[in-house]
Formats: sequence, C-alpha cells, structure tokens
Amino acid sequence: MSTFHYPDLQVCVLAAGKGKRMRSNLPKVLHKVLGRAMIDHVLHTVESLKPKAIAMVTGHASEMVREHVGQPVNLDWVIQDKQLGTGHAVKQCENVIRDVRDVLIVCGDTPLLSVDTLAKLVDEHRSAGTDVTVLTAKPVNPLGYGRIVRDDDGNVTNIVEEKDATDKQRQISEVSSGIYCVRHEVLFDLLHAIGNTNAQSEYYLPDIVPLALNAGQSVRAVAMFDSDEMVGVNDRVDLSDVEAIMQKHIIQDWQRNGVTIEKPETVRIEAGVKIGIDTVIQAGCYLIGSTQIGDECRVGPNAVLVDAWLDDRVNIFAFSHIHGAAVGSDSKVGPYARLRPDARLDEKVHIGNFVEVKKSVIGEGSKVNHLSYIGDATIGSNCNIGAGTITCNYDGANKFHTDIGNDVFVGSDTHLVAPVRVGNGATIGAGSTITRDVADGGLTLSERNEQRHIGSWKRPQKENI
Ligand code: UD1
Ligand code: MG
Repeated sequence: MSTFHYPDLQVCVLAAGKGKRMRSNLPKVLHKVLGRAMIDHVLHTVESLKPKAIAMVTGHASEMVREHVGQPVNLDWVIQDKQLGTGHAVKQCENVIRDVRDVLIVCGDTPLLSVDTLAKLVDEHRSAGTDVTVLTAKPVNPLGYGRIVRDDDGNVTNIVEEKDATDKQRQISEVSSGIYCVRHEVLFDLLHAIGNTNAQSEYYLPDIVPLALNAGQSVRAVAMFDSDEMVGVNDRVDLSDVEAIMQKHIIQDWQRNGVTIEKPETVRIEAGVKIGIDTVIQAGCYLIGSTQIGDECRVGPNAVLVDAWLDDRVNIFAFSHIHGAAVGSDSKVGPYARLRPDARLDEKVHIGNFVEVKKSVIGEGSKVNHLSYIGDATIGSNCNIGAGTITCNYDGANKFHTDIGNDVFVGSDTHLVAPVRVGNGATIGAGSTITRDVADGGLTLSERNEQRHIGSWKRPQKENI
C-alpha cells in the first residue's frame, strides 16, 4: 500500500446533517457499513493522507458523533448549529484553518472513498495549478447527485443540484462526488459570496464553481477511476448498496491474500476482520467485529463468529456460534456448538454438537463432545467430559465456579453443582450429581437406586372400541 503525507493540506469532513432520509434517531454518519460507522471509514481514509489537520463539522446530535469518534490529536470539532447547507458547513471551519496550501472537502456519507482517489485529486489539483477542483464520476444511476455542466469546449461551468436542474440538465451523466480540493487563499471569499436562492433554500457548496469562474479563477474536474467509490448514503437503500460494494472489495482482498471463500455472495466479512492464509471460509459464514482467524483454518458453513479469535488449523463445523471466545490451534468446534464470551480453549480441544461454553478455560487435548453446558469452569488437560454433563453454576442469585483437574473422566449425564472441585485423574460415574469436592484418582459416583427388573410387565395396547 502506498503511503502519503500532505503536511500543507487541511481536510474538512462534513457530517452535520441529520440525514432525514435515513428516518433514524441515529445521526446518519453513525450508521454502520460492515460493522464500522460511516464516519470511521471516512476518517480512516482521510487520516491516511497524513494531512496537517482535520476539521469535523457536526451539528445534528453532535454530542453522539463526538462521543463515538473520541479526540484524535489533529482533529478540530466545528459546530454548525443550523444545517443551512454544505457551503455554510464549510464556512464554519474558517477559524480553525491556518497556514495550509489547500483545503480538501469530503462528506461524511461517502464511506467507499479510497485514499488513492483523494491523493489523485490533490495531486492533479496541484500539478494543474487550479483554484477549485471537483472530483466527478459517471455512476450508472446519476439520480440525486449534482450534475456537472460544461460548455461547448468541455470546460466546467456549473454544478446543478437534482432539485434545481432542468430536464435537459438531468440528462447529464457526469456528477459531482461532493468532494473538492480548493486553494485556501480563495476558498473563504467564495464561501462568503454564496447565496441560498435555490430549490432547497440552502447555501450550496457547489456554487463556488460559478463564483470562482466569475472571479477569474480556474475550475477543473478530476474524474474518478471507479465511480462506485463516490456512492453517497442518503437512505437505507443506499446503505445496503454501499455495503454490498464494500463487501465485494473486502472479500476480493482476502481472496487475493490467500483465503479461499466458497460462495462469496453468501458470506459476510466485516471491515475489522483478519484472516490467515490457506484458511477456507465456507458458504453462509458471518465473520463479525474484530474476529481474527489464523492460518489453515476451516470455518463454516453458516458459522457465526463475533469478536472471535482462532489460532492456526482450527476447524469450526457448520452452524456454530462463537462470540468473544478464543480457540487454540488444532481444535475442533461444532457442528452446532456455542462458545460465549470468555470461553478459552487451549490447543487440540474438541467441542462437539450442542455444547455451550461460557467464561471457562478448557485445557489442551480435552474433549466435551456432546450436549453439555460448561459455564464458570476451569477444565485441565486431557479430560473427557461425557455427554450431557452440566456445570450447575447458578443458584438463582449468584454464580459459582467448577474446577476440574487434568486427566479427569466425567461420565455422561453428570451434574457438577458449583462451587466444586474435581481432583486430577478422577473418574466420575455416569448419572452422578456431584455436590462435594472429588479427590484425585479413583471412582466417584453419587448414590444410585437399585436397578429392578419386572419380567411380567406388558406394554399397554391400543384399545379397540
Ligand atoms: C451533495 C452535493 C451534491 C453531490 C452529492 C454527493 C450539495 C449541495 N450537494 O448532495 O452536489 O452530488 O453530495 O454525494 O453540496 N452537511 C452538513 N451541513 C449541512 C448540509 C449537509 O454538514 O448543512 C453534510 C451532510 O451531513 C453530509 C454532506 O454534508 O455528510 C452532504 O450532504 P447531503 O445532504 O447528503 O447532500 P447530497 O444531497 O447528498
Ligand atoms: Mg449525501
């Protein structure tokens, strides 16, 4: 990946709008695309340019946005009390911008933007020596975007919003991405001159284009290489469109980095996920949040991994659900297993079907293969926990711990009533209810009823009425 450094560039991110079309209580830029808020995608991209500073314009629910973003060192918060338009929003940054050559203006609602595209915009703006440069594209569907109006010689003369455009202008396929690079020296004089006589009574940023031309300044358009990058999110239809595009890119990146993904169109891999080489992700998997998967693992089909951590050569069988849990190398989990937060499996552990593990550590080589609940427990190495074993960790008010040593064999259908400790090498007979600590070695089993046989007993027959 290329690295960038623009010490004489100021970035302004516009994120004050409510995003009315989202119909949401959440500000638009906090809506997530593949697990990350839109504003985080945009911030990550502009931070990669290493600009001098970033001004973030917020207004609607600014406290929520601020709380979410925190306080990066080179970020200034700018409040736009009333959302009077994109031009008005940039104007609010006037006092925080000092001593830079150019100002790069981006919108908080275009999360697909790449750093290479922004760098290309700034570089071409500078090499052409232009005052105002707008980033444009020709998307498949230009509906809703500002159209780029050019004269007969192909020079940009204006940008017209959809709502203000004539029928003829709406036919124009070249649109504005809403992203501009403007010479700092001219920007604020232009912004002060913007009026709001238009269909939305807003101070439109695109109006700097005709104003600059009137003032004898130069305006240029730089075209985007991939028009997908500029898709702006205005409603939830756009949100899913953008997510689909980003998903395709993320999946292709992992494929190119040595991960096999079966039926990629059925798989969800969020932006924060990491996957090692020669790992196979099978159909229908959901890899969510900060999930990290090692090399040579196999996941799926239909497994859900949320903030999960898998070491190398782990096999997760179909329909397993792993949330906030860690799985050691060469372990096998599932099918239909559930690992809940703070489940930690050491190396070569087997967790089988319909087993739930919560807040427990399971030692190397131990097996819990069928129909069990292991909660608030520590299990040593090389143990075999029989089918249907339950750690009874909850008395209705408090949780208690079960501690099992190494080389323990727990017979099927055992209840371990916590707090309880089972010593090393102990064997517990099937069907036991263990309420007191078990010594090392030997066989422990709770009292059983005598087994009886009634030879004369007959199965009931259906009565013929
Ligand atoms: C805008 C552009 C349009 C461009 C499109 C690209 C204007 C007038 N229109 O339209 O030319 O094709 O983006 O996606 O610039 N915002 C503020 N304060 C405001 C208004 C908006 O901070 O007063 C922010 C919003 O939070 C948003 C961004 O500016 O992040 C763009 O606003 P939005 O309402 O989405 O504009 P579009 O209709 O998409
Ligand atoms: Mg928009």
